[in-house]
Amino acid sequence: MAKKIVVASGKGGVGKSSVTAGLSYALSDMGYNVLAVDADIGLRSLDIILKTGNRSVFDWGDVIRGNCLSEQAVSKASGNICVLAAPMRFSPDYTVESVREMIERYDRSFNYIFIDAPAGLSEGFRLACAMADEGIVVATPDVVCVRGAEATGDAAADYGVENLRLIINRFNRKGVERSYLLNIDDTIDSAGVRLIGIVPENPQVLFCFTGGKSLPKRNEARRAFMRIAKRLTGEKIPLEISK
Ligand SMILES: Nc1ncnc2c1ncn2[C@@H]1O[C@H](COP(=O)(O)OP(=O)(O)OP(=O)(O)O)[C@@H](O)[C@H]1O
Ligand SMILES: [Mg+2]
Repeated sequence: MAKKIVVASGKGGVGKSSVTAGLSYALSDMGYNVLAVDADIGLRSLDIILKTGNRSVFDWGDVIRGNCLSEQAVSKASGNICVLAAPMRFSPDYTVESVREMIERYDRSFNYIFIDAPAGLSEGFRLACAMADEGIVVATPDVVCVRGAEATGDAAADYGVENLRLIINRFNRKGVERSYLLNIDDTIDSAGVRLIGIVPENPQVLFCFTGGKSLPKRNEARRAFMRIAKRLTGEKIPLEISK
């Protein structure tokens, strides 16, 4: 059975899709089969970040509507990663029940299923939560984003998502020293979600992921994703905070 994890944030542009990609690459490198599901209806991006490009002929909406078989909607990315694209527009056919039934069809083929949620707490977020059992809340360490993370964690829990954990993304020690970013303890306290890891601010994230490539071997963000991925598999990995 796959572990199904929704990646959510509340506020937009904080790194949900990048975290989904980074963790997918890390778990794939560890030998796990990973399905990255884009739940951002109308604004999908995982096909670019994980470079499946025009191979995404069908999306999960087509699976629900019976336009294709579940295998046909999945596009192969690099390594052991597959991507399931989001529909381009909403349909009344997409309900909590129908998305759950759709995602169950992939349960036996993958070890991990990440669901990249849309920003905000709208219907799309509710559907993304319905696909998952567990959740990751992504927050950048600033006051506005952290408030959004707290609301997201509460809403996800209301929708039945268990074992919520926090990823602090784009961490930058200089920002904390200059007081425009919150420190780690204050970020965790304000978000009210248990920490699973910290990903540093790193220019390679934009450069590599928008180019459909994985991060270079010795890159510190890549190492951070690997440590978080190991924690997801149950390994005890101590927290490491980069510069
Ligand atoms: N750790 C990081 N270091 C540097 N840049 C980052 C990092 N994480 C994400 N980014 C950049 O931030 C931008 C937004 O990231 P991303 O698209 O993953 O966010 P998102 O939360 O999925 O956005 P949306 O809410 O629009 O779906 C991208 O340009 C991405 O490359
Ligand atoms: Mg996104």
